Parts: sequence; C-alpha cells; structure tokens
Amino acid sequence: MPNKPLTIALSKGRILKETLPLLEAAGIRLLEDPESSRKLIFDTSRDDVKIIIIRATDVPPYLQYGGADIGVAGKDVLMEHGAEGIYEPLDLEIARCKLMVAAKKDAPPATGRLRVATKFVNVARRYFASQGVQAEVIKLYGAMELAPLVGLADRIVDVVDTGNTLRANGLEPTELIAQISSRLVVNRASMKTRHAEIQPIIDLIGQAVEARRESA
Ligand code: ATP
Ligand code: PRP
Repeated sequence: MPNKPLTIALSKGRILKETLPLLEAAGIRLLEDPESSRKLIFDTSRDDVKIIIIRATDVPPYLQYGGADIGVAGKDVLMEHGAEGIYEPLDLEIARCKLMVAAKKDAPPATGRLRVATKFVNVARRYFASQGVQAEVIKLYGAMELAPLVGLADRIVDVVDTGNTLRANGLEPTELIAQISSRLVVNRASMKTRHAEIQPIIDLIGQAVEARRESA
C-alpha cells in the first residue's frame, strides 16, 4: 500500500507568500491559489505531498500531535506553544520581526505589579518573571496596542516590525524579548519514521535559504 501523503502545514498571509518559493526549490508547487479558495487541503505538484492551510497559532499543535508532518511557524508562536514533540531543523529567515514589550509614550517605569496585555501569555509570564517583575497577564487575541490606551494594561507584549503600529497608537517599544523569524518544523515521530522522505525536503529548502541569503 502506498504511504499516506506527507502533510505540510502553512498559514495564510505573509508566511504562505514567503514560504512558497522555498517549497518550489523542493519541487513542491501548489496546484491552486489558497488565498482565493475556501478549501483547507491542497494538492501539490508532488503526488506524495499535500499542503494544509491553518491559523498561524494552530501550526504547533498540528505538528505536535501529528496532524501534519512538516510546517512553518513563527518563532514567537513556537516560543508560546513550547517545543514538545516538535523538531526545528531550519531557520527560514522570513517574516522577521521582534517580540517586544511596549508601553504608552512616557509611561512611568514599572513599580509594583504590572498589567500586561498580550496573546503571548506564556512568553510574557516567563519574561517578566526572569526580570523579577510581578505581572498580571491578560490574554487578548488581537489589537493589543489598544489595551494601554483604554487603561486595560500598563504594557503589551507583541511582535514589532517597522514600529508603525506602535507609533500610530502613541506607544513605544521598551524591551526586546526575542528576535523572531519563521522556522521549518517537523513532527518528531515523522522525522524518525519518514526520514527518507523528509530529510531531502529539509536539505533542498536549506539550500534555497542559503542561496537567497548569498544573493541578498
Ligand atoms: P493568527 O492567524 O493565528 O492570529 P497572525 O495573524 O499573527 O496569526 P500573521 O500575521 O500571518 O499571523 O503572522 C505570522 C507570523 O509572522 C507571526 O507568528 C510572526 O512570526 C510574523 N509576523 C507577524 N507580524 C509581523 C510583521 N508585522 N512583520 C513581519 N513578521 C511578522
Ligand atoms: C502585526 C502585529 C503588529 C504589527 C507590527 O499585525 O500584530 O500589530 O504587525 O508590525 P509593524 O511594527 O510593522 O507595524 P499584522 O499586520 O499581522 O495584523 P494582524 O493584527 O491582523 O495580525
């Protein structure tokens, strides 16, 4: 009986756009445009490879529990979820940004307990604990920048690229938590049982990342 297809988990938006050229280097091309389709699972130019399109934050659980063999996820999302069951062989050097703490411009320095709004609650708890700062962390799912403006929180933890979103809302970055880029991730069990299929894909994508870096 033929093996079931290898499943690659991607998310719409910037990760999808920047990952497709890297997958092409491994001979994997989507047969239709997922940005304009309601389908969630897609055929590719390789009969043995399917691509599923899920929310960025759902990529780690799909990888951990074997819903996908290979995936692409931001390091921010991986830090928040944890690495259990997930192997991270490659930095794809795409979707670069920074995970930062931010506050209202001219906010007073932290004294006593801080309220922090973020979708990265585990990262935020760990970070403030490592700084010896007491933090009450409030989970939000988006528009974190609003929280300090309406008095919901003293700080936010969010990804920052150009800083335009912070500036547009009268906020400023205060501390860098981590430099972020997207990573190729592999289900640990698949890495063992399907090594002969997966390793060549990792190698070809790795070569494409290197070639792009050298031509930049
Ligand atoms: P979800 O759909 O689960 O809410 P999301 O909307 O955060 O996730 P994207 O905005 O596509 O998903 O972000 C995917 C990844 O891209 C993030 O995990 C992060 O690593 C990176 N990223 C997010 N914002 C930026 C940005 N402004 N510039 C560069 N990279 C970014
Ligand atoms: C992300 C992130 C910030 C913004 C930072 O949002 O949540 O709000 O980018 O980028 P900047 O520093 O260049 O302004 P995104 O554009 O992905 O929109 P989203 O809120 O729908 O995820």
